[in-house]
Amino acid sequence: MKDPSLRRSVTLFRAFMREQQEPERCYTLLARDAADQVEAYGPVKGQVVVDVGGGGGYFTEEFRRRGAQSFLFEPDLAELGAKPPEGAVVADGYLLPLADGAADVTFSSNVLEHVDDPQTFLSEMVRVTRPGGLIYVSFTNWYSPWGGHEWAPWHYLGGARARARYERRTGKAAKHTLGENLFAHHVGPTLRQVRARGDVSVVSARSRYWPFLAGAITKVPGVREFATWNLLLILRRCP
Ligand SMILES: C[S@@+](CC[C@H](N)C(=O)[O-])C[C@H]1O[C@@H](n2cnc3c(N)ncnc32)[C@H](O)[C@@H]1O
Repeated sequence: MKDPSLRRSVTLFRAFMREQQEPERCYTLLARDAADQVEAYGPVKGQVVVDVGGGGGYFTEEFRRRGAQSFLFEPDLAELGAKPPEGAVVADGYLLPLADGAADVTFSSNVLEHVDDPQTFLSEMVRVTRPGGLIYVSFTNWYSPWGGHEWAPWHYLGGARARARYERRTGKAAKHTLGENLFAHHVGPTLRQVRARGDVSVVSARSRYWPFLAGAITKVPGVREFATWNLLLILRRCP
């Protein structure tokens, strides 16, 4: 599916709406789509691709299918699941067990909103990327309609209230707690911080899923905090 296109966005949205019932289909599709986005900047065949916080490994597997040497680094055993990709490493993205410049592509999908200090997390991704290498980072920003994850859209009334409402309504323990494993990161400040860095250049800053105006949306202060939905940054490590 071509990015951007209305068909692609609708297909991803439908798969996402059935994520609980059909996780395999949802994440396989998402992984294919993200790998296409990476390959828009060059084939991954033969490249070292590091997937940071890759959960059960759908993205790592997709990069391998495309001929990359892809490695999964995931700190949470429960997220790794029963069948992680071969060679998966239990490791925190703040401190990757990799040499400087080891990766051609460093990839992180929907992890940044789960870390307290995104700039330090990003610095570690930059460190392990070779000069000239690509860095793919996407995250759901706080004021996105999905910012509150399982308790969305009630996060607009505050994290604690939304979480309590979710638990009351579903009778289930919420997966996320604001300030513990979900953090309120915003589009504007993130863009400013990334642009101020001397070690990367911003190749693209856009909404990950939007079918149109994906780049333009991220340029409009205020509106972008709601409308971007999920910010995708493609960065290149400076030589
Ligand atoms: C919403 S899941 C995303 C999984 C997968 N990347 C995807 O896009 O479907 C968030 C992941 O971030 C991981 N994570 C949280 N804190 C992390 C950290 N400090 N370093 C690396 N991964 C982290 C979690 O364990 C979890 O697997």
